[in-house]
Amino acid sequence: MSDHFGDSTRAVKAVSSLPVPGDPVGPGPVLASAYHLSDDEGSEQNTYGRGSNPTWRQLESALAQLEGAEAALVFGSGMAAITAALRATATPGSVLVVPADGYYQVRRYATESLAPLGITVREATADEICDAAETADVVLAETPTNPALDVVDLRRLAHACRRRGARLLVDNTTATPLGQQPLALGADLVVASATKALAGHSDMLAGYIAGSDSELIAAVERERLLAGAILGSFEAWLVLRSLGSVGLRFERQCANALALATALQGHRGVRSVRYPGLPGDPSHPLAAGQMRRFGGLVSIELADEAAVHALVRRSELLVAATSFGGIHTSVDRRARWGDPVADGFARISAGIEDTDDLVADVVAALDAQ
Ligand SMILES: Cc1ncc(COP(=O)(O)O)c(C=O)c1O
Repeated sequence: MSDHFGDSTRAVKAVSSLPVPGDPVGPGPVLASAYHLSDDEGSEQNTYGRGSNPTWRQLESALAQLEGAEAALVFGSGMAAITAALRATATPGSVLVVPADGYYQVRRYATESLAPLGITVREATADEICDAAETADVVLAETPTNPALDVVDLRRLAHACRRRGARLLVDNTTATPLGQQPLALGADLVVASATKALAGHSDMLAGYIAGSDSELIAAVERERLLAGAILGSFEAWLVLRSLGSVGLRFERQCANALALATALQGHRGVRSVRYPGLPGDPSHPLAAGQMRRFGGLVSIELADEAAVHALVRRSELLVAATSFGGIHTSVDRRARWGDPVADGFARISAGIEDTDDLVADVVAALDAQ
């Protein structure tokens, strides 16, 4: 696709069908488990619904374009995509590095399901991961990390992985392809949850991988076929439909996140604020060098658990919910899930409300405490 287009234009073009007169401009999902077979055995693109589907292929083509990849594969959730990619790359005897400060279920999968297979699992924080890569075979990095929003230096990490011959997988969920392009920075594979900002409406789950190494893509595709963690074609269509408006939604989410972070950093009720887009944030110099947008997540620390609940209760706009990337601004007290953070630590996912309304509402809710 033409490089001169902006991300919103690219997203609209990526989900557009070919201009065939009489065909729908926005085609619906193809719902099928079985397809008519040909006498020319093996020539068909579609045979059985666990292997392929025309709506998947349309979504995969759009995701590959947005990630700057040759190919993408969609899955039934972000975890389905990540675990398929890990199974395809980490084999018994491998050393696998996973984020110590990233999405906690990925650490659980590595230690509970991969370590017993003879894979050595090491955990490394965003600060430690480049050193950890020196002795690894597979490195999974997440940046910005969920929930603390630290940033990994992807160019440096890709360099360390290349020197060692290790595979680099980057979880692009928090940044999205509109926020950063890990493949262009040297990653072998992007893994991500599309449940968040890409699907964007808090009503479904999906995941994907993207990359340009055909052997690696084929290995992950084999995992999808055999393990069967596929995306329903209706859900694939919902993601496709949402991708067309992701440029608008993500721009507003990023603007709202920056406005909230700016307003909250000086508030007496807020002990600390993290947002990679804040000029004073410890992650900002790295983020500014590798991110196109700084994302819709802001992390704050309030006095305690009660203060987080009171913030939501006193607000007219905030909803208490886990996950992120939806149209509503949501608040998640991460200690509730066992993340190694303070009791008053909350991850805020900025929605698409009007910026002035959102900032006024959140500040008023904090002032009332
Ligand atoms: C960074 C990150 N990666 C992966 C996932 C897993 O995605 P899903 O819930 O779609 O399986 C999540 C879920 O919150 C996440 O935050």
